[in-house]
Amino acid sequence: MGSNPLYNVSADILCWSRILARGTPYGGLKERMPGQENTHGGLVVAQAGDLPHGTSRKFQLTCGRKQIDGFVINFRGRFYAYINRCCHISVPLDCAENEFFTRDLCHLICLTHGATYEPNTGLCTDGPCIGEYLDVLPVAVRHGRVIVYCPPEWD
Ligand code: FES
Repeated sequence: MGSNPLYNVSADILCWSRILARGTPYGGLKERMPGQENTHGGLVVAQAGDLPHGTSRKFQLTCGRKQIDGFVINFRGRFYAYINRCCHISVPLDCAENEFFTRDLCHLICLTHGATYEPNTGLCTDGPCIGEYLDVLPVAVRHGRVIVYCPPEWD
């Protein structure tokens, strides 16, 4: 597979060089971020004002007996949350901690093989899993707080 035109450095090289620099595979988040709290069955993951367009925040959500690694993004003023798992191979999208966007902030990218996704739908538009979707998590903004919820079928 060739390099992704949205990312002018080979995604593989970028990804693995970051892993080696970090010393931990994929940089998985194992602890809850400071400030996250449960509310009304959801998890407050951020203050909306702290996440401008093109930024993201990772979180862990417990749904029934499942532990979900997810991330929330602000894309053009709206918030979207997804399970942090590529459609191609079951690995986190971010090889460097909490980096999900392409440089132009128009797409999400999996740094393992460079699959790109629409930020507002999770649809893979380029790469080995084209046509597949990231797993969506319900998200809401209440009183300035970004809250994510378990998928109804996992609650
Ligand atoms: S693992 Fe994400 S594109 Fe291959």
